[in-house]
Amino acid sequence: MPAILSTLPPLAGILLVAGAVLAGLLLIGLLLWLRRDRAFHSTASVADAYDRWTDDQLLERLWGEHVHLGHYGSPPRHRDFRQAKADFVHELVRWSGLDQLPRGSRVLDVGCGIGGSARILARDYGFDVLGISISPGQIARAKALTPSGLSCDFAVMDALALDLPDANFDAVWTVEAGPHMPDKQRFADELLRVLRPGGVLAVADWNRRDPAVKPLSWLERRVMHQLLVQWAHPEFASIAGFRRNLEQSRHAGASQQLLVDTADWSRETLPSWIDSILEGIRRPVAVLTLGPRALLLGLRETPTLLLMHWGFARGMMQFGVFRARKTL
Ligand SMILES: C[S@@+](CC[C@H](N)C(=O)[O-])C[C@H]1O[C@@H](n2cnc3c(N)ncnc32)[C@H](O)[C@@H]1O
Repeated sequence: MPAILSTLPPLAGILLVAGAVLAGLLLIGLLLWLRRDRAFHSTASVADAYDRWTDDQLLERLWGEHVHLGHYGSPPRHRDFRQAKADFVHELVRWSGLDQLPRGSRVLDVGCGIGGSARILARDYGFDVLGISISPGQIARAKALTPSGLSCDFAVMDALALDLPDANFDAVWTVEAGPHMPDKQRFADELLRVLRPGGVLAVADWNRRDPAVKPLSWLERRVMHQLLVQWAHPEFASIAGFRRNLEQSRHAGASQQLLVDTADWSRETLPSWIDSILEGIRRPVAVLTLGPRALLLGLRETPTLLLMHWGFARGMMQFGVFRARKTL
């Protein structure tokens, strides 16, 4: 034992050792964060990142079955982290008008994660849902989590080349998948191609501030770089930019006049970022029973979560939601 510890009262010694261990872990987490990012190279790098996030179980232990932000109300109020995620799904259903569709409607969930939203859409609204993801690990987990009898199936598929016929769905739903798409126009085209005329589109996405409104500052450019390379994002669209992608799509509908409504839910979803970090402190057993590696993995994600909070809080990032009814 170092000599200095023997001169301290026992509690101070324990606190000192615990502090040193925590500082060491934080340092390792920071080094991992800086040296081993998850930059986007191709859709294969996205699949690989999500396979790993699924296999190590940490994300599911902390975030539950939803890999998206929560909705904390307008104005935002304290609510349970996981409840806020389920509430988000219901909010988007209402806002997009999906709740006007009859039971049995066919819904495609593009970039479905491990199926949290798809199961709510099937169970609470009676829809017949197909969820697709680029990650085989997520699809296997989504199937395992889905009770038999629920009208909800899953498949591995690339959102940029959907192996599905035209006009096949009454609604297309996609939450927080857009930032992984290297070609936003093609993403918009595929979403609209498989939607039937008269069908409902519901999109939620992490967007960047429109550079035409205010370009990024020097500091924002550095932060933006990290937000892209840490979580396999090739680029973020702006809300105005993705609305244009949808409206100008060659699959926008027969009259080619798709009217897209947008809103910014940054405020309603902002508490999610800090809650994501606090969840690890609230549920230490969930993390620690996965072993010491999980602790490091959790610490490794913390700087990105803080930077996301910073970016959304100052308006550099925006949580865009989009709704449209495909013209007949
Ligand atoms: C942030 S997660 C959101 C998951 C899910 N929508 C949810 O809300 O829980 C992003 C999802 O997009 C999927 N994704 C990313 N790129 C994709 C692609 N090219 N094709 C299909 N899915 C993709 C990922 O596999 C992941 O499931």
